[in-house]
Amino acid sequence: MASGHLFNSDSLNEGNGDRPTSLSQTAKPAARQEQASGQSCTIAVVGDVHDQWNAGDQRALQRLGVDLVLLVGDFGNESVDIVRAIASLPLPKAAILGNHDAWYTATGWGRSKCPYDRKREDRVQQQLNLLGEAHVGYSKLDFPQLGLTVVGGRPFTWGGADWKNDDFYRDRYGVNNFEESTQRIVNAALSSEYSTVLMIGHCGPSGLGDLPEDPCGKDWHPIGGDHGDPDLEQAIARIRQAGKQIPLVAFGHMHHSLRHTKTQLRRPIHLDTEGTLYLNAASVPRIIEAEEDTLHNFSLVTLQDGEVWQAALVWVSEEGTVYSKQVFYQKPLATTEAEPQTVSSVV
Ligand SMILES: [Fe+2]
Repeated sequence: MASGHLFNSDSLNEGNGDRPTSLSQTAKPAARQEQASGQSCTIAVVGDVHDQWNAGDQRALQRLGVDLVLLVGDFGNESVDIVRAIASLPLPKAAILGNHDAWYTATGWGRSKCPYDRKREDRVQQQLNLLGEAHVGYSKLDFPQLGLTVVGGRPFTWGGADWKNDDFYRDRYGVNNFEESTQRIVNAALSSEYSTVLMIGHCGPSGLGDLPEDPCGKDWHPIGGDHGDPDLEQAIARIRQAGKQIPLVAFGHMHHSLRHTKTQLRRPIHLDTEGTLYLNAASVPRIIEAEEDTLHNFSLVTLQDGEVWQAALVWVSEEGTVYSKQVFYQKPLATTEAEPQTVSSVV
């Protein structure tokens, strides 16, 4: 397990000017069979890739010493080669495909723009085949070494309160409406091996706010409105009722950079009254050329005793050197009554 103490000495705003910190020498104690008190694990959440993935990502993730990688989709516009590279990542992982991953398949507009012969190949299915069990859309994957299960929401979602792409979901999944979709997600969670369930969606659930800068807020004209997935919100409630604990819901789709203003960024996290942390990981572009290095971003979440201890966005070199880190959430100390600390700005 990566140690939770890694970031204990961080301030809430480590800037780009801080001395780079190498995490590559972090010792990894032996894996465990069950979650136990005092143990922690570090999870990397990869936000919308949009064709930005290379060998440096694998190297950086390995040097960071993460225990689990969660990928929330939009790898490209049916970019099979990107998905192939991600499928070969030699780390524990779970992924869900996004709307761009069915860009030329799910809608009539997309099919009219399709650059390949859809009668001869099905690139949506190719991506699903490549990911195999790592694709948890309407499914789950147990991680015995971590003592938790990852459950996926509705794959290929565009978000929002209207049921879209009827033919696509009917033909591929036999799902015809939000209620049936909710039930598919719940069924996956109820088959999970562990009581601790992490959830991933391409879009987050509804219920996180209706301002354009909220985690799933609509930032295009007319701005405002909750663009989250109603089936995911319903599923989370029912999964909890069934006795599962959900410390983390991770997603992307709604980019941190906003369309209606450049004076602020999207609020990337939300903590609900049940203690679930919702994390929007879509810091796009996720690879940038800095002055001295190429930097990749990951959201790093530390779980401790089945709860999120910290969630942060890091920019990392391809050698695993952390150039900057912004802590979005830090669990308050048990001995204080302070509210959770949050930072809404990103690098
Ligand atoms: Fe998307």
